[in-house]
Amino acid sequence: MRDTVETITELPEGPTPEVHAGRLLPWYDRHRRTLPWRALPGEKADPYRVWLSEIMLQQTTVVTVGAYFDAFLHRWPTVRDLAAAPLDKILHAWQGLGYYARARNLHACAQAVVERHGGQFPDDIEALSALPGVGAYTAGAIAAIAFDRQASAVDGNVERVIARLYALETPLPDVKPAIRDYAGRLVPAERPGDYAQAMMDLGATVCTPRAPRCVLCPVVDLCVGRRLGVAETLPRRRVKPARPVRQGIAFLLMRKDGAVLLRRRPPRGLLGGMIEVPSSPWREGTLDRDDCLSAAPVPASWRSLPGIVRHVFTHFELRLEVVAASTAGMADEVADAQWCAIDRLDEMALPTVMKKVLTHGLKAMADANPAAT
Ligand code: ADE
Repeated sequence: MRDTVETITELPEGPTPEVHAGRLLPWYDRHRRTLPWRALPGEKADPYRVWLSEIMLQQTTVVTVGAYFDAFLHRWPTVRDLAAAPLDKILHAWQGLGYYARARNLHACAQAVVERHGGQFPDDIEALSALPGVGAYTAGAIAAIAFDRQASAVDGNVERVIARLYALETPLPDVKPAIRDYAGRLVPAERPGDYAQAMMDLGATVCTPRAPRCVLCPVVDLCVGRRLGVAETLPRRRVKPARPVRQGIAFLLMRKDGAVLLRRRPPRGLLGGMIEVPSSPWREGTLDRDDCLSAAPVPASWRSLPGIVRHVFTHFELRLEVVAASTAGMADEVADAQWCAIDRLDEMALPTVMKKVLTHGLKAMADANPAAT
């Protein structure tokens, strides 16, 4: 069986674009998902909506994105509005979507579209790829969906569809160039935008990671993975090394009137420009408490709160101990620091990890001293 699989994957064989799209497009016309950013049949796509949705959908689910997409569009109806908005407002509205570099790129990209292209998104892959935050996938998706260009958009869903269609057994990520090649060859000249969205819908609703619904698949008889009985096991993945763990201490400083000390992170790097509870550097290895405590924003008698805040980032897991102290002072000397009343915390551009620190820390303080609340 292995020999058969490898022989087939080596050959640039498979359905022609006409045959594949000839099955997929009629299926799409019947089963297409209704999504907030998607043009209705016969309607012209709006490049701003397409771009905005694609940036939001990077690493976030369709269900989560829906409400954010509507809120952004309501607040910033055009790319010019978004370009003119203060970055902080965008970061705040982005809260919950994660990966804040995307929000900063969103802003930079809107400004680039206004400055370089007079407020109109370009329609070719090269100019699209030169925009901040627009990689190969997003450029392909915008070119195809917004401008009906014969371009492919290969995200995780489409990778799976193609790996199964051609029974590509090489594990990810090594198989990616082959997948892109195969996917590119399949894009039809007619209705490439609908074809791109049909591939996305097929991956999301039929050719699912587990228990694919092959009986509902419009291209089941063209699928080599299905024929060989390996579809559900594809794409294969190289075994990932365990995520490293970083640790540190977060400093919850309360003023007598109940305000809490926050500060802004440096503009570049992880969670760049976001607001945080001050913390020690996050390091791998055994937690050196004395070293961490020497990074306190002000000298104070810090007391340990029970429990740990755990947050998983893409490349590491973070464990933060929270220590608390009270002050009557203003702590004006702390660089980039600001006091925030507890009932106004939701107005701050706080990343999820820092919301966890605040929720955990404030609860632990209230539990330790119920009379004070
Ligand atoms: N996932 C990424 N882009 C998408 C789109 N335009 N429609 C549906 N799912 C998607």
